[in-house]
Order: sequence, then structure tokens, then C-alpha cells
Amino acid sequence: MIIFNNIVGFKNHLRKLKNDNVKIGFVPTMGALHNGHTSLIKKSVLENDYSVVSIFINPTQFNNINDYKSYPINISRDIELLDSISENIILFKPDTEEIYSGKVVSDSYDFGDLDKYMEGKHRKGHFQGVATVVNKLFEIVSADNVYFGEKDFQQLRIIEVLVQKNGYKLNVIRCKTIRQNDGLALSSRNKKLDISSQNIATNLFKALSFAKKNFDTLDLEVIYAKVEDLLQNFPQISIDYFAIADENDLKPIKHKKKNQKYRAFIAADISGVRLIDNIKLY
Ligand code: PAJ
Repeated sequence: MIIFNNIVGFKNHLRKLKNDNVKIGFVPTMGALHNGHTSLIKKSVLENDYSVVSIFINPTQFNNINDYKSYPINISRDIELLDSISENIILFKPDTEEIYSGKVVSDSYDFGDLDKYMEGKHRKGHFQGVATVVNKLFEIVSADNVYFGEKDFQQLRIIEVLVQKNGYKLNVIRCKTIRQNDGLALSSRNKKLDISSQNIATNLFKALSFAKKNFDTLDLEVIYAKVEDLLQNFPQISIDYFAIADENDLKPIKHKKKNQKYRAFIAADISGVRLIDNIKLY
């Protein structure tokens, strides 16, 4: 596997490959790779001639400096893992200076109401930071297909809108959420949880599953109340939000309408670690 830390070297390499009219897939990540990430990477490897994986912990998307500083890093294991997947992976792992050239700030994007709810509401500036770095990476990588996980569904929608607004010739491929057998969605942050906290964290998926199972039959208020009851049994869980929202505009709903696609979203702090998850309700 070829590894680049700087933009110029990376772009030169890509330019040579592009001359052969090859398809480039791109999987942006922040590293500490797990099977959720590798599912995206394997899909990209199958669907493209070369796959670029970026590892960059983006400072502008963290609204909490401690969260940024304690973000898990395991670059040697990440490299081993990528090496074992395919020879056609190109790893791009720039440092902050390379990406931000001394100005570590977000650009300003208008996503309408898409970033007003849920993560957008609870993590001020988060999506401006995500869009800033993803936009920079898109310009550097100029891929044909880019892969994002439904685990971060609001991020995925925002990227879809970013691509549309900027007129990029880039397919955004939605990839399903990978979970442990007990339902816990894989996340780099799970590494910060001890075993008992991980067990408690499975209740987030239980709450989402309850919503899915009962969505057609129970009133929304009843679902909201039952989910709150379920999670209140665990003092280690502090809920940021539980919301049922339209999957296109992400606006939390008060009443169900027929033939709409809805998802249930949850974010909670578990023993000091913030986790998010969502499930489709159709
Ligand atoms: P990161 O959290 O490393 O996630 C990278 C990609 O992996 C995202 O598209 C995310 O949705 C996907 N992913 C994470 N866990 C997953 C799981 N359990 N199943 C399926 N996909 C999963 O998301 C980011 O990094 C950053 O915000 C980034 C887009 C790289 C911008 O900095």
C-alpha cells in the first residue's frame, strides 16, 4: 500500500493513475479503524480500481477540546488492517498543517434546516467543521465514488447536499450500519468504554428497536415515553436526544404521515462517552 502525508505527492500519484482512466473510490475516516470502516473500504475496493482512504482527525468538527485530544489513534494497526484488505488502497494521512495551512477554522455553509436538529443542535459548529474538511478532501482526492456510513445519517445527508450544491461529479454511496451481535453500532468511541459500559450501551439499540417494532401501531408520544422509561433504568445513560425524523429533511416529526420514510435517532452519553445511532423505520 502506498502512503502519502502531503497533498502534492498524493495528487501527483493520483494524476498518473487517472491518466489510465481508472475509477477512484474514496473513504474519509478519522482512523482507529473497525469493521464499520472496513465495510465501506471493502465496498469501495469492489466497486473501483483504486480506493483512497484518508485518516485525519479533524479539529474543526470537535466542539469539545477534550473529545478531540482523547480521540483514539492506532495508526500502525490501521496500516496493517488496510494492507490486509487490498493492494489497491492508497492511504492519505495528512497532518493538520497540511490541510489547514495555519488557519484551523471552518468555512461557512448553508444547509438550510438540515443542521438545525439533533447533532447540529447539540454539537454547535460540528457540521460546519465536517463540511469544511470533507470539501477540502473532495478537492484533493477528486474521486468518482465516495462512501459514507448510515451510522452517521445526518452527516451523510449533509454531504449529499454539499455534493449537490457544489455540483461535484461524485456519487455518494450510502453504506449500512455495522453492529456487534448485541446490536451496539461499531464506533471508534466504543474503545473508550469498559465492558460493563458497553453492555449498558446496547440499550440505545434496544430503544431504537422498540421504536421500529412499534412505529406502525403506537402513537408517537407513547413511543417517546416508553423509550424514556426504558433508558431511565440506567443511571449511566444520559440522553441528549431521541427523535423520530423524516429521513430527507431530518426534521423531527410530531405526527406520522403515510408513505414517508422515517428514522429514529438517538444520542446519549454513557459513562462519559458520547454515542449516536439511528435506525430506519420502514
Ligand atoms: P469516522 O467516525 O472515522 O467515520 C468514517 C466513516 O465510517 C463515516 O462515513 C461513518 O459513518 C462510517 N462508520 C463509522 N462507524 C460505522 C458503522 N458502525 N457502520 C457503518 N459505517 C460506519 O465520520 C467521520 O469519521 C468524520 O466525520 C469524517 C467524515 C471523516 C470527516 O472528518
